[in-house]
Amino acid sequence: MPGGRAKAHDQTSPAIVRSVADLREAVAGFHRDGHRVALVPTMGALHAGHMALVAAAGEAAARTVVSIFVNPTQFAPAEDLAAYPRDEADDLKKLAAAGVDLVFMPVVADMYGEGFATSLNVAGPGAGLESAARPHFFTGVATVVCKLLLQCLPDIAVFGEKDYQQLQVVRRMVRDLDIPSDILAIPTVREADGLACSSRNDYLSPEERTIAARLHEILHDTAARLRGGGAVIAEIERGMISLREAGFDGIDYLALCDGESLTPLSEAKEGARLLAAVRLSGTRLIDNLAL
Ligand code: PAF
Repeated sequence: MPGGRAKAHDQTSPAIVRSVADLREAVAGFHRDGHRVALVPTMGALHAGHMALVAAAGEAAARTVVSIFVNPTQFAPAEDLAAYPRDEADDLKKLAAAGVDLVFMPVVADMYGEGFATSLNVAGPGAGLESAARPHFFTGVATVVCKLLLQCLPDIAVFGEKDYQQLQVVRRMVRDLDIPSDILAIPTVREADGLACSSRNDYLSPEERTIAARLHEILHDTAARLRGGGAVIAEIERGMISLREAGFDGIDYLALCDGESLTPLSEAKEGARLLAAVRLSGTRLIDNLAL
């Protein structure tokens, strides 16, 4: 594959860097050697979804960098920052097996030093949907992703379609700020029953886990009806009823939107995206499908 990984994957542990200076030096070395570099930003607790991003990075560039940073600015005070799953040893084992070259694990005090005062607001695709329930979220994501891209300066950065609004926010920000990295989007990885892989799935009890799988099924049915010519308002209403009947405690949104701007649509069209966020006990689940 052009620009892709030249070496066979081995189990050699990736180099670990914690400072921006060490990251820049390592990436500059990769570039000096003529290699393209792909960055996969993560918050750790790596599952099959993350590993699909890592595999895609390995196909797209000869050197793969993975960042692991649980970013405090994308959590509201009442959210699960302290409880967010962390397993550095297991993450590093998975990244070694995947043949990752470099892992960047900065500490909070370096990422957000004394007097840190800058934050990025991406309007357009950042408005509505997730922002209605989590107004702080995309400011935190955009700020940290912008920092990671400028710290690493990768040729490519890889994001999952599972966090579809995040993907569009990152694309918009990269375009608006002329950040010289291509954004590569990877389809959602799902469990056998359709549930999208997420670190937060671990919070679910076995009964909740069964209910959770209905989210994808209901999105799938709603998308099929819309594709078949069903009226948007009626099909969204029908989908909401199905979600309530499936046992979800709350529905933050079920919406048909333009796939790039995320503007709500009242009529189905090519490139539209169906997106949902639901609550199950204390856990919030999101998912989306292309129409
Ligand atoms: O999707 C995530 O895991 C995070 O939002 C990201 C992109 C790593 C930024 O912290």
